[in-house]
Amino acid sequence: MPAGDPFYITTPIFYVNDVPHIGHAYTEVAADVLARWHRQAGDDTWLLTGTDEHGQKILRTAVANDTTPKEWADKLVADAWIPLLETVGIANDDFIRTTDARHENGVLVFLNKLYDDGFIYSGEYEGYYCVGCEEYKQLDDLLETPDGDFAGQLVCKIHGRPIEVLQETNYFFRMSQFEQKLLDLYESQPDFIQPESVRNEIIQFVKQGLQDLSISRSSFDWGIQIPWDERHVLYVWFDALLNYATAAGYGSDAAQFARRWPAVHIVGKDIARFHAVIWPAMLMAAGLPVPRRVFGHGWLLVGGEKMSKSKLTGIAPHQITDTFGSDAFRYYFMRAISFGQDGSFSWEDLSARYQAELANGFGNLASRVTAMIGRYFDGVLPGPSEYTDADLAIQRTVATAAEDADVAIERFAIHESIAAIWTIVDDLNGYITTQEPWVLAKDDAKRERLATVLYTAAEGLRALAVLLSPVVPLATAKLWTALGQEAALGDQRIRSAGEWGVLRPGTAITKLEALFPRIETTEDAGAA
Ligand code: ME8
Ligand code: MG
Repeated sequence: MPAGDPFYITTPIFYVNDVPHIGHAYTEVAADVLARWHRQAGDDTWLLTGTDEHGQKILRTAVANDTTPKEWADKLVADAWIPLLETVGIANDDFIRTTDARHENGVLVFLNKLYDDGFIYSGEYEGYYCVGCEEYKQLDDLLETPDGDFAGQLVCKIHGRPIEVLQETNYFFRMSQFEQKLLDLYESQPDFIQPESVRNEIIQFVKQGLQDLSISRSSFDWGIQIPWDERHVLYVWFDALLNYATAAGYGSDAAQFARRWPAVHIVGKDIARFHAVIWPAMLMAAGLPVPRRVFGHGWLLVGGEKMSKSKLTGIAPHQITDTFGSDAFRYYFMRAISFGQDGSFSWEDLSARYQAELANGFGNLASRVTAMIGRYFDGVLPGPSEYTDADLAIQRTVATAAEDADVAIERFAIHESIAAIWTIVDDLNGYITTQEPWVLAKDDAKRERLATVLYTAAEGLRALAVLLSPVVPLATAKLWTALGQEAALGDQRIRSAGEWGVLRPGTAITKLEALFPRIETTEDAGAA
């Protein structure tokens, strides 16, 4: 992608019925790493996140807590969802709430358009609804529990709780009209839905036939009123999906909308269907471009099951960052789990990777190299003289890593991108072991060779700072400063990171304290 291209990326907007767990933080970090990468590539980048605040689930939570849904949402947003962004280092450009006036106004514009164009009609809905999913259900989405609290009742397969049986006059969206158009979209744009497993599942689902979608409810009032019939509020998913458009200026700022839209949506696979079926159908009905891509990532599992708010298996992100820091959180989840697949979190794995990869691998390399430049050259970066094969091999590693990392990011393979960058860490550590600068330093005749080795190592660190800054922004900023760089790290073009010879000899280098300090005991961290 040439520099300057628009790159609009979104996370789901999360339900404010409860506080975030590491699953929500995982989505935030993935979207943020991709956004930071593109921003640093010079693309016209915009990262949107936010909260989903209407619907029965939030209403019931508020009532159960003796408050109003708006007060409940305000509190959760201020006390939990905004702080989450700080906890895991998210550099979002915007935060939308579905209770924002800009959102509600845009939704009304959209609804009126679809109504005027004949895509909405009044009909009878009779069927099942799961408030946990905020979704209309078919019989095969449900099961009858033989025992437990809900013995003999129909429960949702996902939430394991009784569903509602609805019989209401509702407004319907003519989604069935878009069945073939959607199948054509999946066919003509094979990377529209990723990964492949999610794509296949969605194609199968649409091939079974699409029904029209009930998009209003009249038995409660926590939602956006239907503009032509105030007895109804809009179905919460129809409301929520529109955030991606309203936040980008739909209905209020046409120039902004033209600049940003269409978006890349990063979501969990649990909600990929809403994004890859209902949402593009809505956009087609309104005559708007469909999203560029819908990526449904895997789940963080606890004991083999999806970590979830409603099953109380959530781990709070700060439990990890209080001990390990936000950089380690970001690195661990992006590196240890193939983006697109499920992954199990374990404290042991996190501690082991922290120690081996961040502290001993990367952090120690940065400390050693800056310390040796301090010791042997009074903290002034020496210039290289003739390069040997070993030095040229490092230059090739850096060039290849930068290229491979960018290609992997284009495919959303974040884990592969980091693995490619890590070849620089591994090769540089090997290089220092074989070049033995501490031996060269003992021999005045080897001064030029020592200079070349340390310049090579410093250039490797320079490339690492640029390439890793989307993943570990705090540590790389410290490294960048230690390398005597005054220009902002974020302005270093990531797609040129593989070019050699950027650091100017004569630059003042300062010794780095441990980027990833030793952590006392794993047991303490696990019990935090
Ligand atoms: O679905 N592993 O909100 P939500 C990985 N409001 N990711 C997880 C996860 C896990 N165990 N648990 C949750 C909603 N997530 C709607 C979205 S968008 C227009 C409306 C992440 O609070 C993942 O991104 O239930 C998942 O899709 C999302 O949280 C669901 O968040
Ligand atoms: Mg959910």
